Amino acid sequence: MKIGLIGGTGNQGQGLALRLAMVGHEIKIGSRNLEKAQKIVDELNTHIDNVASSLELLFPGKKMDWVEKKEFTTADELEQAKKNLVGMQNEDAVKDVDAVLLTVPFQYAKDTLEQLLPNMNPGTILVDVTVPLKKVGRTFVCETFPEGSGSKHLAATVPENIPVVAAFKTISAHRLMHIEQPLEGVDVFIASDDNEALTKIVELANSIRHLRGIEVGALLCSASFELMTAVLITINIRHKTKQTSFRVTI
Ligand SMILES: NC(=O)c1ccc[n+]([C@@H]2O[C@H](COP(=O)([O-])OP(=O)(O)OC[C@H]3O[C@@H](n4cnc5c(N)ncnc54)[C@H](OP(=O)(O)O)[C@@H]3O)[C@@H](O)[C@H]2O)c1
Repeated sequence: MKIGLIGGTGNQGQGLALRLAMVGHEIKIGSRNLEKAQKIVDELNTHIDNVASSLELLFPGKKMDWVEKKEFTTADELEQAKKNLVGMQNEDAVKDVDAVLLTVPFQYAKDTLEQLLPNMNPGTILVDVTVPLKKVGRTFVCETFPEGSGSKHLAATVPENIPVVAAFKTISAHRLMHIEQPLEGVDVFIASDDNEALTKIVELANSIRHLRGIEVGALLCSASFELMTAVLITINIRHKTKQTSFRVTI
């Protein structure tokens, strides 16, 4: 898929860009500033090189041909990631792509979207990754909205010919950036009122090695997993970690 990231220079955007580029998607990392976007792509390429060298050091002479069995990332995945990352301004990153991922802090999401929507082709899927977090003492909760959730609130400004999907809200940037480790045991929740767009974004999530995209239901379901993100962050702080995640079992 061709994917543009609004605010792709941030923590979550970079992590998602890397994971998606590693499995062959063409990624446009968007920024308000072109030079910043290009600098971030250079830094990501350095990060990929460093991970490749570390894996080579860990397994000298093995050429990493058996690494996959040990559940490390492969040299092919890392090489592929470097080919698939490009930096540009947000205005250009949202053009001529299959999906746009919104990865800016929630408080800027509505204004940013309103500026960029005219540049998006009808039919492009908008994937809302933002979480309307609010800190109360030592606890994280979510802001509340008359529409029911942060994604529903943002969707109210989006024209009908742009389907909105909520996804990747409960996976941490920290976990995504550790590209030497495939995402074993990690699920992400995905919701939309548009079934076709929902299926495509579940497939996109599943294309990342080991990650499981769990189809939850209508876009209103994002209310639940926005709150689940607040729970994860509160757990992370209490247990001094940055990488808790959810796994659905039956
Ligand atoms: N970090 C996580 O682990 C995580 C996990 C799940 C979901 N999320 C959600 O993902 C979103 C991004 O999180 P993040 O940690 O990546 O945020 P971040 O690093 O603080 O910011 C992301 C990008 O947003 C852009 N930005 C900042 N201020 C802006 C403004 N006033 N107007 C327009 N764009 C602005 C910046 O890009 P430019 O300066 O290049 O334009 C920045 O690099 C948030 O909504 C967050 O809730 C984050």
